[in-house]
Amino acid sequence: MMKRIARISLLLLLVAGLWLALKPTLGNRRLTFLPQHWSEYLDYMDFWLNLFAFAILGLTVWFALGSLQKVLQRLFLMIASITLLNLLLEGLQSSIPGRAMDQADVWAGLLGCVLGICSGLAMQLFTVRKKVGASPQVLFLDQTGRLGGAELMLLDIAAARAADSEVALFQDGEFRTALEKAQVKTHVFKLAEEASSVDKQAGLRCVLRTVPAIVDLTLQIARAARAFDVVYANTAKSLIIGGPAARLAGRPLIFHLHDIIADGHFSSLNQKALIFCANYCARKVIANSEATKDAFIACGGRAELCVVVPNGFHIPEERTPSPKTAALRASLGIPSAAWTILMAGRLSHWKGQHVLLEALKTVPNAHAVLLGDALFTEEDRIYAQRLHSQADEPGLAGRIHFAGFQSDTMPYFDMADVVVHASVFPEPFGRVIVEGMLAGKPVIASRAGGAAEIIQHEHTGLLVDPGSAADLASALLRLQRDSGFASTIALQAQHTAQDTYAISAVQEKIESAIRQTAGSKKSQLLSPAIPLPKPPPCAA
Ligand code: UDP
Ligand code: GLC
Repeated sequence: MMKRIARISLLLLLVAGLWLALKPTLGNRRLTFLPQHWSEYLDYMDFWLNLFAFAILGLTVWFALGSLQKVLQRLFLMIASITLLNLLLEGLQSSIPGRAMDQADVWAGLLGCVLGICSGLAMQLFTVRKKVGASPQVLFLDQTGRLGGAELMLLDIAAARAADSEVALFQDGEFRTALEKAQVKTHVFKLAEEASSVDKQAGLRCVLRTVPAIVDLTLQIARAARAFDVVYANTAKSLIIGGPAARLAGRPLIFHLHDIIADGHFSSLNQKALIFCANYCARKVIANSEATKDAFIACGGRAELCVVVPNGFHIPEERTPSPKTAALRASLGIPSAAWTILMAGRLSHWKGQHVLLEALKTVPNAHAVLLGDALFTEEDRIYAQRLHSQADEPGLAGRIHFAGFQSDTMPYFDMADVVVHASVFPEPFGRVIVEGMLAGKPVIASRAGGAAEIIQHEHTGLLVDPGSAADLASALLRLQRDSGFASTIALQAQHTAQDTYAISAVQEKIESAIRQTAGSKKSQLLSPAIPLPKPPPCAA
């Protein structure tokens, strides 16, 4: 009801403003000293100018679903400036010999200006200055319902401030269940099928097809965002939607950058769209490593937006190995004497499970457990099938164990002799590396991106050339043959990880970023909070 009244009032104001603005122009039409067509052209120019300005004004009103006060304020200011412009044109026209100033038009114009400015000021007085409370209200956005590393990080952040946060997902799944289990209010705003299938490599045609679905979701998120102090986009896709939505709602946006924006990870179109959205919409960019930050800046991202905060982990006072390990080995069919390699993470070509399988051919008495599943794309599912075929090749058959996705990963880390990370493109951060270190296992990782920041070669792990099965095989053989060295680096790694990646310190940094963003000057003027719309029924 309120909205309808607001829209009708805006329409009436528009008509009144249009009349006021155009009146001085419509009165006199001729600049007789010029050829007729020039005279007509010039004479109508201010008319078209007004028409154009009011078209923009209409669009602003249409899009500014945000606060009514803001819309009205803008409207009044525009009426004032357009009538002022008209007055100037009137002045110019009357300076032409043979033309007199139309006093009635001048007064009408002046009245329009005064009315516009006064109404704008009056609206300012009525605008609610919402105080950002002790703990800012945050709307977190994430596109997926699956549990990848970025989602596990968000789970910890949102759970720690559950009373002051809600999460909006664009897809249902086990992530929602995990959030709700942690008492975090969660809503699923479904993104239409065609839009959710757009991946990081999508081209222009594919992206264009998704525009209507994206616009629809953006408007829904904009409406929801008005009940919060800060919008926090946790993934690339959620930035593309959350960025414009936050702007429409007049709320500041934080972008948590979990990805390396570069070739190999994103198509060039997607890189440009992400950088544009981040630069234009985000008040802060939280990068999960120096590598992600550097790639963001190299791609054109604004350096002054960035702050680096690594992932955080729950570190128990004392870690006792899981009692389930023997049973787990037996259930996976791993012989008790076999040297066991764990590779945890989603099955995806860039994660490089195929590199480990290739390397394993030259490592005797070694079995590999692949923990994880193809989580996000059709390409990943095809890759997973190819891995199964590769695992049946001579020299590997019976030595590769697919464990699927498990929510309790601890027993898998405990059962391993070594943890391998083998991404063929730079890893943005690499949670599994830190998890291996915290479990007290020697870790081998690809020398690139966040992995190279986490591990100090030969001190807290081994770094190998990304994509090189030969390099990985020789690192595996070195650890297999020299168990003393393996234990030494594992212990050093455990201490380093415990000192560096405690969740409490990371949560503090994120909280401080949220407070700074919520408290920044531009975000102070807010409209009254509006309750979230009822979420659509979620698929099980
Ligand atoms: N993970 C999990 N269950 C699995 C496989 C992996 O919970 O079956 C977790 C893993 O422990 C890690 C996260 O998924 O915390 C993967 O994060 P990472 O940063 O290593 O890679 P991402 O998949 O996010 O690129
Ligand atoms: C992303 C990255 C991964 C990182 C995780 C958490 O999923 O691919 O490297 O560890 O986010 O920041």
